[in-house]
Amino acid sequence: MEKLLLTHASELVTASGRRALRGREMREIGVIPDGAVLIEDGLIAAVGPTERIAPLAGQCETLDCSGRTVLPGFVDSHTHFIFAGHRAEEFSWRLQGESYMSIMERGGGIGATVGPTRAASEEELEREGAKRLASMLRFGVTTAEGKSGYGLDLDTELRQLAVMERLSGSQPVEVVSTFLGAHAVPEEYKGRTDEYVEFMIRQVLPRVKEQGIARFCDVFCEKSVFSVEQSRRLLTAAREMGFALKLHADEMVTLGGASLAAELGAVSADHLLHADERGIRDLAQSGTVATLLPATAFCLREPYADARRMIDSGCAVAVASDYNPGSCYTNSVPLLFALCCLYMHMSVEETITALTLNGAAALGLADRIGSIEPGKQADIAVIDCPSRHYLPYHTGVNLVERVIKKGKIVL
Ligand code: NIG
Ligand code: FE
Repeated sequence: MEKLLLTHASELVTASGRRALRGREMREIGVIPDGAVLIEDGLIAAVGPTERIAPLAGQCETLDCSGRTVLPGFVDSHTHFIFAGHRAEEFSWRLQGESYMSIMERGGGIGATVGPTRAASEEELEREGAKRLASMLRFGVTTAEGKSGYGLDLDTELRQLAVMERLSGSQPVEVVSTFLGAHAVPEEYKGRTDEYVEFMIRQVLPRVKEQGIARFCDVFCEKSVFSVEQSRRLLTAAREMGFALKLHADEMVTLGGASLAAELGAVSADHLLHADERGIRDLAQSGTVATLLPATAFCLREPYADARRMIDSGCAVAVASDYNPGSCYTNSVPLLFALCCLYMHMSVEETITALTLNGAAALGLADRIGSIEPGKQADIAVIDCPSRHYLPYHTGVNLVERVIKKGKIVL
């Protein structure tokens, strides 16, 4: 049996649970002083104070975590990390006052990443993707979701998903794939959005299903992109084919995406900067996780999602990066902690839950990852600071020292 023992963590944060925590529950993260974790064959075997756990271990490799905080590995449940080309000039146009949507409407935005991504070889997409995953790992991320959506044609969408499938097996970060063919309407379907939705439903979704390369189907439900009706049509078809659902909802305007996600039983509704009272109520009364992406609001200089109201209304809130070449070219976890705690009025404990257990729940994986408790996969981050309070306090600084994935030290 392969064993690894972590001892003497000044704080061991367990974040225990096998489902998303909602509302007030999000504060209950479980902190064990002088904590230890015993790992056997990639799974967590025992958790508790060092004096109780160490004697159970016998002779085995031991990692002394004195002065360190030990947390579940972070789950980045919303990214678009497979793409080619960059859009640095768009960032500068936005600095000069132009909006994300107006850049998109004049041919920039998502459409500007489609050309380079279609032209990129599978090897190139894989090489760049691997680098980005390595960067996520350095921030303590042990599982990441990734979306297609920069092909907007059959071949490239399948290629993006195939690349993610391969990457999931070839480096430490586990990748969960989402089909986002309805990310934008490509040039060749301009003015024919309904036909494009039909093309996705009849030609592309069935191929994705057949190849078994995506767990989720997502849509960018937004004014001038895909309407609530078009999103409902596509997601309903996807659900019938067996996909779990996600939705880019109420990002730029209040359109009703939050309510649609709740109505369809989506696993998560994401962004939600402009979710209104009704949308928040519908999410609170559903099993749909509200996934907030504060770095996007920050980079677009848009107002932050109303996390406080969502949590106080009883929603299950997750936080993720939205890492992509346009609206949010960052995968920085320390930035997320700073934004959540300083500007979204989330406590450190709520933010930890949002980035671990609730992130796992936003991927339908809360029974296997997202917390440090017996039976779960041993995905763990060792942080070089004496308590969780340093996560926002040592602002913007990456304190991750070691990462354990499936029981192996990978960083
Ligand atoms: O989540 N809003 C739509 N999609 C991404 C942006 C992707 C891009 O700009 O390339 C988002 O913000
Ligand atoms: Fe996104």
